[in-house]
Amino acid sequence: MNLEMRGIAPDEYPAFMTSAARGFGWSWNAEDAEPPKPDIDRSLAVFERGSIVGCAHAFGSDINIPGGAAPVAAVDDVAVLPTHRRRGIMRMMMARQMEDFHERGEPIAALFATESSIYGRFGYGIGGFEETWTIDTLRSAYSAPFAHMGRLSFVEPADTPDIFPTVFARAMRDRPGSIPLTQHRWQRIARGKRFHVQYEENGQVEGYVRYNIENNGVVVDALIAATPSAHASLWRFCFDIDLTWEVKARMRPVDDPLPWMLAEPRRLSRRSYDGLWIRLVDAPAALAARSYDTSGRLVIEVSDPFCPWNEGRYELEAGPDGASCSRTSKSPDFAITASDLASAYLGGVPFTLLGRAGRIEELASGSLKRADAMFAAPLKPWCAFHF
Ligand SMILES: CC(C)(COP(=O)(O)OP(=O)(O)OC[C@H]1O[C@@H](n2cnc3c(N)ncnc32)[C@H](O)[C@@H]1OP(=O)(O)O)[C@@H](O)C(=O)NCCC(=O)NCCS
Repeated sequence: MNLEMRGIAPDEYPAFMTSAARGFGWSWNAEDAEPPKPDIDRSLAVFERGSIVGCAHAFGSDINIPGGAAPVAAVDDVAVLPTHRRRGIMRMMMARQMEDFHERGEPIAALFATESSIYGRFGYGIGGFEETWTIDTLRSAYSAPFAHMGRLSFVEPADTPDIFPTVFARAMRDRPGSIPLTQHRWQRIARGKRFHVQYEENGQVEGYVRYNIENNGVVVDALIAATPSAHASLWRFCFDIDLTWEVKARMRPVDDPLPWMLAEPRRLSRRSYDGLWIRLVDAPAALAARSYDTSGRLVIEVSDPFCPWNEGRYELEAGPDGASCSRTSKSPDFAITASDLASAYLGGVPFTLLGRAGRIEELASGSLKRADAMFAAPLKPWCAFHF
């Protein structure tokens, strides 16, 4: 197998997208010409005899972390042609990407995985979970009396990129794991055929829902609310649409308050699955970038064969006002893999839970509990769109 791995030239973008489509099994047609993805110069391809047999893309963005935001490499379009699988092509691309992110100074990488068995070996960990919901709308009454306070109105898809990004940013401000929707994604939404309903109070847009009607069911793609009344109103709107009997929603945060607002919470069927995957490309930089719920000191032994620059022992001195993280020779409190450290990083997965699963070696008794208290965050990680 004579392979060449390199970035693509702008005129190779159609071939790149064609290979991604072949890898994922979807159709892509240059004539349908979507606006180009962000950072197409960060598209990596593996060529055999001049044809692309493997592809991977990443765009630069910011990810919310407790106490602020950090640069992130958002990875998408990772695919290898079915004719060329299990020969190490993806591994090559993952290694090249990781070196590139490291050189660019992006301390974190993130992705959504097609299968949960793939990315742990590359040091990614499940950063948070999300849920798919189904509810019979006849059993969707709220437990407390409810009246719409604001105004609901339809918005043309083409107008959504001008109206919704502001409220999206407000709704996600304190949400770890959130990444702003790209212009590319807003343009795709604008060209789509979904219904959009916004909720306004005092002339200000406080939330919106994007949905479709299929077989007498409401299928909610996104429901974004910056206030509790926007949240309650938009869900009530979805539940009360005439001639529909069911609401389905996907990509919901695990700590959405809706189940606690329902008179019959059991009627809301919830399926949980891995959401955003996180990779600490530069572990000490990522650890120093966030703030911590309680002050404390931890010595963490990190194993990371895929990114050897992370291997070693770090002392983390951290608290609500910030943190420092540097190499140390002090005795470690616990030993952890890069993948598990990434899972715990945003506060969505407790260290003690990973310890009980046999994934972390606790060397100083009580240190995992201390780590849980430090890494805790008021909101669970959630990235509201899949990139
Ligand atoms: C997933 C995919 C990119 C893997 O490409 P590949 O070139 O066959 O992968 P590699 O040969 O480099 O394998 C790398 C490692 O991942 C493992 N792996 C690859 N695909 C896997 C899968 N689907 N499930 C579990 N493990 C997988 C391999 O066993 C190998 O493990 P090892 O190196 O620890 O022995 C390819 O199967 C594909 O394009 N699938 C469809 C699209 C897709 O799911 N993309 C991922 C997007 S998030």
